[in-house]
Amino acid sequence: MDLLASKHYCLITYGCQMNEADSERYAGQLEELGYTMTEDWELADVILINTCCVRETAEDKVLGKIGELKHVKARNKNLILAVTGCMAQEWQDRLFKRAPHLDLVIGTHNIHKLIELIKERQKGMNRFLAADMGESVFHDIPTKRFQKFFAWVPIMNGCNKFCTYCIVPHVRGREVSRPLEDIVAEIKRIAADGYKEITLLGQNVNSYGLDFRDGTDFSALLYAIDDIDGIERVRYMTSHPKDMTFAMVDAIAACRKVVTHLHLPVQSGSTDLLKRMNRGYSTEHYLELIDYIREKMPHVVLTTDLIVGFPGETEEMFQETLALLRKVRYDMAYTFIYSPRTGTPAATMDGQIDRAEKSRRLKRLMEVQNEISLAYNKEMEGKDYEVIVEGPTKNDADRWFGRTSGNKMIIWDNDDTLAVGDTVTVRVDKGQTWVLKGHVLK
Ligand code: SAH
Ligand code: SF4
Ligand code: F3S
Repeated sequence: MDLLASKHYCLITYGCQMNEADSERYAGQLEELGYTMTEDWELADVILINTCCVRETAEDKVLGKIGELKHVKARNKNLILAVTGCMAQEWQDRLFKRAPHLDLVIGTHNIHKLIELIKERQKGMNRFLAADMGESVFHDIPTKRFQKFFAWVPIMNGCNKFCTYCIVPHVRGREVSRPLEDIVAEIKRIAADGYKEITLLGQNVNSYGLDFRDGTDFSALLYAIDDIDGIERVRYMTSHPKDMTFAMVDAIAACRKVVTHLHLPVQSGSTDLLKRMNRGYSTEHYLELIDYIREKMPHVVLTTDLIVGFPGETEEMFQETLALLRKVRYDMAYTFIYSPRTGTPAATMDGQIDRAEKSRRLKRLMEVQNEISLAYNKEMEGKDYEVIVEGPTKNDADRWFGRTSGNKMIIWDNDDTLAVGDTVTVRVDKGQTWVLKGHVLK
């Protein structure tokens, strides 16, 4: 019997979907080495923390977790503690200084090295930092998918936008697209394995393929995957208002399987502030794009990201953001308090806003958005939607949930005849701010 067969690993993931996808590739490598997943730290031979550094709060969570693991390591000297992902890329050696109990620090371009590094460390080699960004990011890495019917499909990595507040381009590197044939081949394999829904992942999916300089773009990719048998829904994350063309909107509207949900981060409703953020579009352009999207897709579910308290944001500028919310009427918005990131231009800009004022603005913003979200969800009452069953909710095994094409979550009382991955019709009974309640139609 393989000696490694009884070994275990824990995997803790922070951050965005990109990190979720990367974690599946870390898990794939660990399983290839013969490790089995566990939730129990005491049982683990490897604990891997895949990290995010987009805001200070994200980093604080990771540092807290690393601190907790010190005692686990003290009890089990053979335990290998690995910190990976964006914060590993940003902090590098500083992580070893801060936490000498770590064994491996692996950056965003070195995922494929996990097996080799674990083996070296087990041979008694020194703790190791792998953070070279010259490495290519797309490797044939074994992937352990955590979900049965939903799969992440990375289509590009990195970002060239350099919004002045954002650390992502620094820790993910420049944009690199994955060859279209590789993406199509992966989706065909996934479909053959029974996956129904895929999410195409990239920091800025609308610039997909531009680095090939052969005419390939996001629209071409959508058309190329729209008729892959077995796939029912194609999602994509994240779009950028500067790079999303009207032709791409046409492609999204034309492709049968591409969902009716569009996430289009606006960040602010003030053109002046957007300039300071280096977003590359004006409020006017953004609104034209939204009009076109609504014209082509009347039932589109629109969501966005917003930052409050960016340096130099005046009360008037903030009011413009509130006005934009009321004008666009998003179904939902992810709202963030500006968090200064060392090394980004905004961190040293004039006009930093104090913490209390940022919190007040966040609260006001959320009040406006919540009212709009509730109104949308109330409009859904009494109507029927197709959902793919995702299974029990976190807190109650008797309540199950699924999502509509527009990415709205509907909860219902468990019905024993349903299985995870079933596509069913659900009637909405009650719309709330964050979630809908309903019942499955027979
Ligand atoms: N590439 C995507 C998402 C990047 S991070 C995009 O451009 O939309 C997700 C969101 O985090 C961003 O849209 C932004 O709203 C927020 N964000 C990024 N850096 C931030 C910072 N320093 N402080 C607060 N929010 C930030
Ligand atoms: Fe960050 Fe801007 Fe790139 Fe998004 S587009 S990842 S916000 S730099
Ligand atoms: Fe965080 Fe990295 Fe994603 S910084 S938001 S995990 S790209």
